[in-house]
Amino acid sequence: MTNLTASIAGFHFQDLLLNAAGVHCETTEELEALRKATGTGALITKSATPKPRPGNSGLRYQDLPLGSINSMGLPNQGLSYYLDYANHYHDQQKPLFLSIAGLTQADNLAMLADIQASEFTGLVELNLSCPNVPGKPQTGYDFEATRQILTKAFTFFTKPLGVKLPPYFDLAHFDQIAAILNAFPLAYVNSINSVGNGLMIDSKTDTVMIAPKGGFGGLGGAMVKATALANVHGLRQRLNPTIKVIGTGGVQSGRDVYDLILAGADLVAVGTSLHQEGPAVFQRLRSELIAEMDRKNYTEVDQFRNRLQTLN
Ligand code: FUM
Repeated sequence: MTNLTASIAGFHFQDLLLNAAGVHCETTEELEALRKATGTGALITKSATPKPRPGNSGLRYQDLPLGSINSMGLPNQGLSYYLDYANHYHDQQKPLFLSIAGLTQADNLAMLADIQASEFTGLVELNLSCPNVPGKPQTGYDFEATRQILTKAFTFFTKPLGVKLPPYFDLAHFDQIAAILNAFPLAYVNSINSVGNGLMIDSKTDTVMIAPKGGFGGLGGAMVKATALANVHGLRQRLNPTIKVIGTGGVQSGRDVYDLILAGADLVAVGTSLHQEGPAVFQRLRSELIAEMDRKNYTEVDQFRNRLQTLN
């Protein structure tokens, strides 16, 4: 029997796959489908804003030969909708993560205060990295703002908290963000969000491929795998061991899951492939991961987690 278990902040995961926040998780029906899907070990809600949002208008997601581009703009049902689901969520086998993404620091702190006051005792993810809200830069690229919001949040927030980070592209930035995150009792980081503000052109029409923001949008899928691996590994090397890592980005196969674990991920989240294949993707990825582990004679993920070797 292959052991795919993991733990974060005292929560035990029988399986290490979950959805990437934003994919198949806006409604309770979608969330329940994830909960019931074979292969998921957890699920996360669409990042909530204080009030419901329709998100950006027009064509806002397109598949690409090597992944996807999207500019959804945080369409969601509002925090109270997800808190209500979370407060009634009792599946001990598959812990629930509640994700929030306020458009201002004040919104984020107010939502954290609401969650603190609620009955919800699960894991909370503060999304500092949505690239798709016009006029709102990603907080995770503003190191001072990141430090400030975490400083304020931890004056009152005592439930397990993680952050969703944007991809970083310079090792100096890995050093800087890790030094900030290490100063707080974070349960985990989730890395990466989509690679923000890509642009793709439709060769038939000579137009951009999505409508919002003049065609600029977050990239996901196979084309971001190397960036996801670099961020997971670079952060795992720099973060306190108490801060766990959820690896997100570029998962199409069980080997991609394996690679993120090898790079240091505790859990692995799936976005574009889930969008393309639906919740059945988790059973396929789980079987492929186990087959890969069998080929290597591993029976437990801990036998290779964070054991990536370098070349001399
Ligand atoms: O556009 C969106 O809703 C994306 C959110 C995110 O990347 O966190």
